Amino acid sequence: MRILVCGGAGYIGSHTCLALVGRGHQVVIADSGVNSSPRVVPRLRRLAGVPVPVHRVDLRDRVALTALFATYRFDAVLHFAALKAVGDSCRRPLEYFDNNISGTIALLQAMQCAGVRRLVFSSSATVYGEPAQVPVREDAGLSVMNPYGRTKLVAEQLIGDLCTSDPDFRAANLRYFNPVGAHASGVIGEDPCGEPTNLMPYICQVAVGAREKLRVFGGDYPTPDGTGVRDYIHVVDLARAHVDALEFMVRADRSLTVNLGTGRGVSVLDLVHAFERASGRRVPYEIVERRPGDAASVYADPSLAHELLGWRAEFDVDAMCRDAWRWQSMNPEGYRTATRREAPSRGRR
Ligand code: NAD
Ligand code: WQD
Repeated sequence: MRILVCGGAGYIGSHTCLALVGRGHQVVIADSGVNSSPRVVPRLRRLAGVPVPVHRVDLRDRVALTALFATYRFDAVLHFAALKAVGDSCRRPLEYFDNNISGTIALLQAMQCAGVRRLVFSSSATVYGEPAQVPVREDAGLSVMNPYGRTKLVAEQLIGDLCTSDPDFRAANLRYFNPVGAHASGVIGEDPCGEPTNLMPYICQVAVGAREKLRVFGGDYPTPDGTGVRDYIHVVDLARAHVDALEFMVRADRSLTVNLGTGRGVSVLDLVHAFERASGRRVPYEIVERRPGDAASVYADPSLAHELLGWRAEFDVDAMCRDAWRWQSMNPEGYRTATRREAPSRGRR
């Protein structure tokens, strides 16, 4: 299939492009560059070993989007393009509503005009809010904790309404838990702007010496060691799930909503210790106040994804830490670290 990957230059999108190419699909990327480096593209092309056209397009730019759908005949769309920082979304909610919701509406309209009726959407475990029980199943109650979470819930609902109105439209809502890790090559990975808000990139930056210590948000949760428990999933497992979901949706001709997690709860300190083992570095930390809005324990029941797609996460926490560390140590400044091949064109970000 020829797949339009919106947000394909970002963290999860870039890994998914490789998984798509690895299974014989053609990929075209549309990305505004709002949270991606131009250095991703040559690295991605090198790893993919095939041409990967990249278009700098903001989904809200309807003229550019229409032109893109007129240039290529797409079989399906994977939609990663969103702003994703929870704290930022509380400070600038309208920007998040505009980028994530208006962007999704513009994309759905462009798909409808072009007659493209297969969509894989990047949703999030954030749609469960603070779950009443764990592991979380897909039929758990949905709620919103912050403007970012609202954009994911609203987007799922918009897509659901479109599926109801158009009997030929199929969508896969993939609710990711906590994606971490990097491609085994160490050539692409997660490169947050500024101070990381997520745990794994923060640990990586402490281990590489870019930050002094990790602040562990809360040591008095009702969890085995008192720190927050989450379901970390290797980005390569996550990427593979997108291809499985896409192919299932087309083959079975049906829509779906599935959790993507390992089903295993891992505490903040578990992750710190696994990272120390994988990297051979110490990760100094101090336990501080809880972060407002954090739940004690959130992890998936991933059995529906296994039942429908035959998909199951393969990588454990040690592999997640090993690959995150390889990426971080090979690229201490993320994509600003030039590889030998890129070194001649200095001055680029
Ligand atoms: P990312 O920021 O690395 O990737 C998103 C990409 O989309 C970036 O390259 C950005 O430049 C692009 N983009 C944003 N708005 C755009 C727009 N209007 N038009 C075109 N391109 C645009 O984020 P990620 O971690 O790869 O996340 C991918 C998706 O998965 C997002 O939708 C995110 O909300 C969702 N998600 C992420 C996590 C996580 O922890 N990383 C968890 C659950 C869900
Ligand atoms: C994990 C654990 C923190 C940083 C967020 C979004 C969610 C989804 C994934 C997109 C928690 C603790 C963290 C630090 C810490 N994103 N922590 N020190 O909060 O589960 O989920 O990212 O959809 O919507 O809310 O992930 O990585 O921020 O935190 O102690 O410096 O690590 O308290 O227990 P979270 P996280």
